[in-house]
Amino acid sequence: MDSREIAESYLSFFKKQGHAVIPPAPLVPPDDPTTLFTSSGMQQLVPYLKGEIHPMGKRLVDAQPCFRAEDIDEVGDNRHTTFFTMLGNWSLGDYFKTEQLAWFWQWLTEELKLPKDRLAVTVFEGNQDVKKDETSAKIWQALGLTKEQIWYYPAQKNWWSRSGEPEKMPAGEIGGPDSEVFFEFTQVKHDPKFGKTCHPNCDCGRWLEIGNSVFMEYEKQADASFKPLPKQNVDFGGGLERLTAASQNQPDIFQTDIFVELIKADPTENLSDNRLIADHLRASVAMINEGISPGNKKQGYILRRLIRRAAIKFNDPKNLTDFIKYFQPQTEAAAVLNDEIKKFSTSLAIGKKVLSRAKTIDEALAFDIFQSYGLPFEVIAAVTQVKLNRAKFEALLEQHSQKSRTASAGMFKGGLADQSEITTKYHTATHLLQAALRQVLGIHVRQEGSNITADRLRFDFAHPQALSEAEMQRVEELMNAKITANLPVVKTIEAKDTALKSGAMAFFRENYPNKVSVYTIGDFSKELCGGPHVGSTAAIGGVKLVKQESIGAGKRRIYAVLKEIYQPGAET
Ligand code: ALA
Repeated sequence: MDSREIAESYLSFFKKQGHAVIPPAPLVPPDDPTTLFTSSGMQQLVPYLKGEIHPMGKRLVDAQPCFRAEDIDEVGDNRHTTFFTMLGNWSLGDYFKTEQLAWFWQWLTEELKLPKDRLAVTVFEGNQDVKKDETSAKIWQALGLTKEQIWYYPAQKNWWSRSGEPEKMPAGEIGGPDSEVFFEFTQVKHDPKFGKTCHPNCDCGRWLEIGNSVFMEYEKQADASFKPLPKQNVDFGGGLERLTAASQNQPDIFQTDIFVELIKADPTENLSDNRLIADHLRASVAMINEGISPGNKKQGYILRRLIRRAAIKFNDPKNLTDFIKYFQPQTEAAAVLNDEIKKFSTSLAIGKKVLSRAKTIDEALAFDIFQSYGLPFEVIAAVTQVKLNRAKFEALLEQHSQKSRTASAGMFKGGLADQSEITTKYHTATHLLQAALRQVLGIHVRQEGSNITADRLRFDFAHPQALSEAEMQRVEELMNAKITANLPVVKTIEAKDTALKSGAMAFFRENYPNKVSVYTIGDFSKELCGGPHVGSTAAIGGVKLVKQESIGAGKRRIYAVLKEIYQPGAET
C-alpha cells in the first residue's frame, strides 16, 4: 500500500469501530500560547481528555500534520523527521486497553498485513506511583504474542505526556503509561555501537517504533503526586511515514513513496544531508502553506532556521535554486523559499567576512553573529569549522531571550509554556476586542490571526487603514466598559450551522467540526472557540491598547495588555 492508502485504511478501520473522523488542527494551534506547533494528535483534545464532553462523541480518529522541533538534531538518520503525519484514535472514557490493543493489532496484521513474527511490543515496567502494566502484557499474550515479543521498559520509554517522563510533567499536565509496537527490519544488521544485543528500543535502525497506545489516566498534582483523571482515556498515535516504511519493508523512510521523488530531485550526494534537506524543506513548505513567514521570533524563527540549515548543505547555490523548482507548483511556498535564501546568501556573505576578521571564534561571537545576521549556530559551526559548544551558545540565547523576549532555545524545543490565569484573561479580552472593533469600525472587521502570550494579546484583522487615535480610544473604552459591566461568559455546544446562522464569529482559517463550542459574552460577543475563558468579564480587570501596525495591504495588527501588567513605554 502507498502512504495515502494506509491513511485511508486506518481511518476507515476505526470508523467501522464507531469512531467519528475529526478535522485535524492547524499546524499552529490557534489561540494557544502553550506551544508553538501542533506536535501530537492529542493536543487539540486536552480539555476532553481532562473530562469535557466532546461534541463528536467518545470515539475519535484523525490524521494530524505535526511538527516536532525537538527531533531536529536526529534528522539525517533513516527514520527521524521534524514534520510528519500522525494517525490517531482516542477513547474519551469509553473503551480501554483490551479494545485498543486488539484493534491496533488487527489493523496492523490484517489490513497492513505486517508479518506477526516481525512485530514486538513494549509495556510499562512500573514505578513508585503506577504499577507494572501486566494487564497490557496479558492482552498481548491473549492476542497471540509470545513472551519473547513482549518487553518491559521504564518510564523513560513507556510513559507518555507532552513533557515526557513523570518527573518532567508540570502540575495540571496529563499522561500515563503506554504500550508501543515495533517493526523489525531483519535485513538491517545490528550495529554493536549501540549496545551488545539488539532490542526494540535499540537505536541501531533494525527496529522501528510504529505506534503508541497511551493509557491517559493521570493528572500530575502540585505536590508531584498523580491523581486519576475522571475517566480512563486512550490516546493513540502512529507516524504515517513509519507505518509506510514498515508496510513497504523499507528501513529508510526517505525511500518510501512519501519522500522518494523529493530525494531524487536533490543533487546532494551526502545521504544524511540529503535526508535533512528533504525533511526541512518539506516542513518549511507545510509551514509557509499555513501562513508562517520566516522571521526572528517564534514560529517564524523556526521556519528561518529550517530553511537556513537546509540551504547551508548546498555548496553551489544554483543547485539549491534548481531544487526549489520541485516546490514550484506551490507558487507561494517556492517564492518564500527563494526570497529567504536570497536574504540568507547576503547575511552569509557578511557573516563570513566578520568571522574571517575575528581573532577568536567563540560562542559569544557566534551569538553576536546570530543576533546581527540571523546565522544559526550550526551554520556558523559549518562555516568556521571550529568546534563550538552548543550549550554555551544556547545559554547566551536564553539569557538574551529572557531580557528581550525574542525567540528562545526553550521555545524551539516546542515545549509547554505558561498557561496561567493571565492567558485565560487575554483569551476573553480578544473576544471583547473583536466585538469592539466591529462596533467602532464596522462589521467588515474579522479576525485574521491571533496570538496570546503571558505578556500581551495580538490580534490581526482586515481593515483598510490605520485607526485614528480617537478610534483606538473608543475601542479601548468600549472594552473596558464591558469589563466593568461584568458580563457573564457562557459556553454552549451548538450545531456549527446554527451557531454561524445566529451570528457567531468564526476564524475562517480553521476547520470546525459539526458540533462546536460557542462562547457568548452578554449580548456583546458570540464566537466559536475552544477556550479557556474567564467566568465573567470583570475578572479581566481592564485592558490597554498599546500599539497598532500594518501587516500588509488591508491588514492591521493591534497589541493589547492587561492593565495589571501594563507598563507605559514597554516593548510589546
Ligand atoms: N500522544 C502520543 C504520542 O504523541 C500518542 O506519541
